[in-house]
Amino acid sequence: MTALTLSTAAAAGLRADAIVIGVAKGARGPVVAPGAEAVDTAYDGTLADVLETLGASGSEGEVTKLPAPPGFKAPLVVAVGLGAEPEEGEDFDAEALRRAAGAAARVLTGAKKAAFALPLTGAADAGAIGEGVLLGAYSFDAYKAEGRNAKAARAKAPLGEAALLGGKPRDKAFKAAVERATAVAQELNRARDLINTPPNDLDPEAFAAVAQAAAKEHGIKVQVLDEKALAKGGYGGILGVGAGSAAAPRLVKLSYTSSRATRTLAFVGKGITYDSGGISLKPAGHNETMKCDMSGAAAVFAAVVAAARLKLEVNVTGWLALAENMPSGSATRPGDVLRMFSGTTVEVLNTDAEGRLVLADALWAASLEEPDAIIDVATLTGAMMLALGNRTYGIMANDDALRAAVHEAAEEVGEPAWPMPLPEHLRKSMDSPTADIANMGERMGGGLIAGLFLREFVGEGIAWAHLDIAGPAYNEGAPFGYTPKGGTGSAVRTLVRIAELAAEGELG
Ligand code: BES
Ligand code: MN
Ligand code: ZN
Repeated sequence: MTALTLSTAAAAGLRADAIVIGVAKGARGPVVAPGAEAVDTAYDGTLADVLETLGASGSEGEVTKLPAPPGFKAPLVVAVGLGAEPEEGEDFDAEALRRAAGAAARVLTGAKKAAFALPLTGAADAGAIGEGVLLGAYSFDAYKAEGRNAKAARAKAPLGEAALLGGKPRDKAFKAAVERATAVAQELNRARDLINTPPNDLDPEAFAAVAQAAAKEHGIKVQVLDEKALAKGGYGGILGVGAGSAAAPRLVKLSYTSSRATRTLAFVGKGITYDSGGISLKPAGHNETMKCDMSGAAAVFAAVVAAARLKLEVNVTGWLALAENMPSGSATRPGDVLRMFSGTTVEVLNTDAEGRLVLADALWAASLEEPDAIIDVATLTGAMMLALGNRTYGIMANDDALRAAVHEAAEEVGEPAWPMPLPEHLRKSMDSPTADIANMGERMGGGLIAGLFLREFVGEGIAWAHLDIAGPAYNEGAPFGYTPKGGTGSAVRTLVRIAELAAEGELG
């Protein structure tokens, strides 16, 4: 993993493979961003013109390479677009810095060291740039042949070290910002690894083993319910979804506690290690990326470990509802009725609506401990992708303040999200003639119906929010900013921010 350092060195004297500078989109062409003054001076103040000649405009994500000026120890300048130049007197926002740093880190694959001379007005900016670098430098090559060939592996290795110029290495706030960025990005990247790991290597048991090992390392209490314990406890939802698979389901409970905590949060993650649809089998074209259906559980896992590493003064319990959804002679059929952990009976009309079934049991288990708030994260519905596209997640809640807090936290950390309603009239479309409720309702508003279903399994009086990350969890397109192809780690940073707010007594 890329190392982050804070440096007071002058750009010219720094031994590195490249110097990264910012270029913004001004009213009359590209504008060199603060931080790059030394480079501009060495170019006799013509850097903006040089960049324009090279075709740079300063638009977001644009990368322009040029030779470093004479006298510089680094041979290369990488100018990265920051988007629109801020208004007079305003600074670049954190997300613009994070994305630019990520885009730069992506083109620096194979480099040993780069100096980042991006605009930096304080510790928070250093944190954002650091996060962007560590997230942008991510790559997943565990299954590539090059991984076994030393020379090819070096050329493809992520950037070795990023020195943040203008950072104050002895300043408490700067050091804390870098430490936070490192912990969050490392755990987020680990969530990406889990999402990208093929489902033949990551079944519920394997995921639980990874969680157990990490919990041990970070002083988190962990409890794993295997299929026998689930049967004994009456977890009909998780067992029903896992019934068709040769790999048995698991419910993992991770408890991070702080002796100084006054609040307790429960995070619940959908962990379908592969979603074939079950007997309601998905057609070809809809199942190739379904290893990503455990992204919610991966996000919850990462957030709990990050909270522990940051020693946040809040208790955080993570529930990972792990199962593989497969068709077989032992699989749950459309028409079967499951008795859930809460005692509610569910008629399964479509075995592909499995996420809500595993979450229902985990939400009820979380509710029994009466936390101050429950937040679940799930790649739950295709309908949410149709509604919000593939970069924005939907937030539903039974509590206006919690919905608003999650939305604000998401905005703050640079995760696009949007509040969605839970319209009461849709509930009756899940009425079942046989059981208490069906796992499917009318087609229109499918994401909201899933939310209404989950709401039935949240304990009376507990504030709850549901994050449907089906859109942003997995990037099938080209990388952008600090977002790679494949698993993205969506919602990790929102959850960490929520835990910080709770620790500071600023959440409800
Ligand atoms: N895991 C899927 C949702 C999904 C689809 C996530 C595409 C990411 C990308 C979920 O289990 C599912 O199959 N949902 C169904 C529900 C329907 C049968 C009521 C859907 O959205 O089509
Ligand atoms: Mn499904
Ligand atoms: Zn699913």
